[in-house]
Amino acid sequence: MIAAVVSALHVLALALGLPAVYLRGRALRAPLDGAGLARLFAADNVWGVAAALWLVTGLLRAFGGLEKGTAFYLGSRAFWLKMALFAFILVLEIRPMMTFIGWRAGLRRGRAPDTSGARRLFLVNHIEMGLVVLMVFVAAFMARGFGAR
Ligand code: HEM
Repeated sequence: MIAAVVSALHVLALALGLPAVYLRGRALRAPLDGAGLARLFAADNVWGVAAALWLVTGLLRAFGGLEKGTAFYLGSRAFWLKMALFAFILVLEIRPMMTFIGWRAGLRRGRAPDTSGARRLFLVNHIEMGLVVLMVFVAAFMARGFGAR
């Protein structure tokens, strides 16, 4: 029963995360006035929740004895590829995360943020979205034993 709930939450993270990163990209390309920034931050919040949900439920599934057991995943090349892709997303996320923290802090103090870097952040965001899609394929292969040593 716990395995089913955690599995559902892992898939739910995808249902939250993919639209959120897409909408964050759209917001980055639209005018970043007050309403635009509100849309950007709303999408960014959901993207953050999805990332946390992925990590917690993923770790539970892999190492909490809920699915095929720790040895299966540690011995799976597909699992390590999936982790490498996830780590790559986290590294790419450093720049947008720091930038948005700055924009949010500035706004709270009544300062309009300098959004001149939005175009570059859009590109980073787009790469992150592609990596999530790729991870879904790697996950499906991993779950079916591809790349097992
Ligand atoms: C962007 C992040 C992630 C995405 C898009 C994602 C996607 C998926 C999908 C679609 C499945 C279902 C595969 C299937 O049954 O066909 C899955 C399963 C799984 N994921 Fe993730 N995942 C992510 C992050 C993580 C993380 C961070 C971990 C571990 C730390 C993890 C561990 C697992 C495990 C253990 C399974 C179960 C595989 C099985 O049934 O044997 N995932 N993931």
